[in-house]
Amino acid sequence: MILINLTIMKSEILEATIYQEPFPLMVIENFYNESELDLIWEELNFLTKPNKLVEAKDYGGVVENTNAKALILDDVYEGHRSVSNILTVNRKLFSSGVLDNFAQIHPCCKIAPKSNWDCTKIRYYHNGEYYDPHTDRDFQFLAFSYFYKEPKKFSGGDLIFPEYDFKVSCNNNSMVIFPGWVEHGVRKVTIKDSDYFEGNGRYAITSFFGCRARNKKGILTS
Ligand SMILES: [Fe+2]
Repeated sequence: MILINLTIMKSEILEATIYQEPFPLMVIENFYNESELDLIWEELNFLTKPNKLVEAKDYGGVVENTNAKALILDDVYEGHRSVSNILTVNRKLFSSGVLDNFAQIHPCCKIAPKSNWDCTKIRYYHNGEYYDPHTDRDFQFLAFSYFYKEPKKFSGGDLIFPEYDFKVSCNNNSMVIFPGWVEHGVRKVTIKDSDYFEGNGRYAITSFFGCRARNKKGILTS
């Protein structure tokens, strides 16, 4: 485990922890600044209201693996991405230079800064919700950022890697980046006496990203 400081966008310094074992992993604490967090929470609070997040069967998730609701923002805001606060501020993953550092962890991470495609999903875990271990085999890289209301009212919700007997605690406003071939899951969240729509659980903004080929018309293949 190596601790490094990342200087990004001239005025910001981020602290990252890099792991080469048991698999390539970067964890960045306090990834978003205060103004970015305000924009993110504005949208997370909106999306927690009734009839916004959908079940796994309605966003293309594996129904047997999770009971947590989510929403693919790229689908909702197709053609109007700038309307979404989150789709706007989460460009920081690609513009800040953190992927240049991630690329140096291991040769299998080398192409991450050259990514030309990404998809953003919002996910919320309330009492009793989880995601069984699985591999997102369709994607080269994964970046998860975590948010919850302070003081923290839930327990559980760790990002777990059972194959490696390893876990990440998912601190508020932290970012985790690793290759898509790494099996991962989310431990069940427990909250006592809290209404779902109060949003006292665990939020994740998940980015799936990588390099895709273009067809003869110059359009990215799916
Ligand atoms: Fe996943």
